[in-house]
Amino acid sequence: MTMRRNIISMLLWFGVGAIFTIHIILQHRKELNLEEFSERQITEVKTTILKRTEMENIHQRKPRRGNTITEDDNDKSPENENDKSSSSKQQASEDEEKSASDDNENDKIAANAKHDANETGESSSVGKDHDDSGSGVVGVQSLLDKAQEEIERLRGENKKLYEREHHLKRIARQLAFQLKNSREKTSLPHVDPRLPWIYAITPTYGRFTQKADLVRLTQTLLHVTNLHWIIVEDSSNKTPLVGNLLKESGLSYTHLHIRTPTMMQKKHRNKKPHRGVAQRNHALQWLRDNIDSDKTPGVVYFMDDDNTYHRKLFDEMRHTKHVSIWGVGLAGGARWAGPMVTRGKVVGFHVYWAPERPFPIDMCGFAVNLRVLLDEKPDAKFDMHAKLGHLEPTFLAKITTMEQLEPVADNGTKIYVWHTRTEVPRDSLRGERMMIKEGRPTYPEIEV
Ligand code: UGA
Ligand code: MN
Repeated sequence: MTMRRNIISMLLWFGVGAIFTIHIILQHRKELNLEEFSERQITEVKTTILKRTEMENIHQRKPRRGNTITEDDNDKSPENENDKSSSSKQQASEDEEKSASDDNENDKIAANAKHDANETGESSSVGKDHDDSGSGVVGVQSLLDKAQEEIERLRGENKKLYEREHHLKRIARQLAFQLKNSREKTSLPHVDPRLPWIYAITPTYGRFTQKADLVRLTQTLLHVTNLHWIIVEDSSNKTPLVGNLLKESGLSYTHLHIRTPTMMQKKHRNKKPHRGVAQRNHALQWLRDNIDSDKTPGVVYFMDDDNTYHRKLFDEMRHTKHVSIWGVGLAGGARWAGPMVTRGKVVGFHVYWAPERPFPIDMCGFAVNLRVLLDEKPDAKFDMHAKLGHLEPTFLAKITTMEQLEPVADNGTKIYVWHTRTEVPRDSLRGERMMIKEGRPTYPEIEV
């Protein structure tokens, strides 16, 4: 019995001990769990707070993009500085801990963005990012924004450079064109392959005023596009005076010579002979032998060396199809002589002297298409035996009709050529003779 009581009591004590032990163990485990839980909880809470802060920062930053400079400036005001939360301050200090190179880079970008904003008149919040508090995500976002803005800025600059390049290229083209033009203007005479040529035939002879007349004529002809000058000296040889003058002229020319036959020279005749006839016929022969009217089409114009020619005249005659005609100043014994035109056709002539002549016009009052003289009338030439005042009329009668005449220069109403005649310089001639007679020097080597 006692034994049984002892066993029961021992079992009871053992049970109590076991319960106490289990209690102790459980209590200890509970304490451990509690500790674990609270640490995890704290971490979770911390993370949540951190995330919220991040989200808040992002949301706060987004609406600020594109704000005005005034708003940015307000953000920098001391008031706003005070309003910043402690977490913002914490982040600001974290930002400061970023590497120096990062800061420098950001500063550069921010400076650029600010510069751009000032240029375009738009504001930029990029400059503010450095001051903003935020987490690493904010930093990355901020860098992305800055990079995007930098890309936009570079795009803008690229566009500007592209436009500037275009502008400069345009100016360069204009300058090149002006330079070319000015060069062409200074280098006379002009040649234009699209325009017909003018073959000007001029007889000349050694008179006291020859050089003065030829220099004046040369300098007129330099202004004429596509002009070939056939100058025929009334002499047994080509003279150095005319040869040198032509060489220095810059003109396109052919230098010929033919002496007027003795029986037609003035000194051998009791009546006044026609002048420059053999020379004009010689030039016509040269044209027939040397020029192809298909390759270099144009007109033939007979120019005395002492007349006065307006440069406009040449463009009036240039497109002559057959024979063109116009008025001549100081000719025909009147103030002017020339065609009378009705509805584009020559119906008569205004002239004082011998109006009954078929074509009462001076040598400088008409031009003939090259084809007419080379192909249609290959034998046409001036007749040195023609009656006085009939040199031009007899020649024209061979090659044209009144119906075919083409009046130019405003239907013959504009005078672009004058039959001026060089006066014989009697005083100079007399004085020179006297000086030679008196044995005084006249320096014959000086060309006048
Ligand atoms: C006028 C006409 O304008 C000439 O076209 C025409 O040949 C001349 O009359 C005529 O009926 O024979 P005009 O002023 O009186 O001309 O004559 P100039 O100027 O003295 O001579 C006409 C052209 O022939 C000039 O180019 C002149 O240099 C040349 N000429 C003159 C000679 O070649 N040899 C001479 O002996 C004289
Ligand atoms: Mn003359």
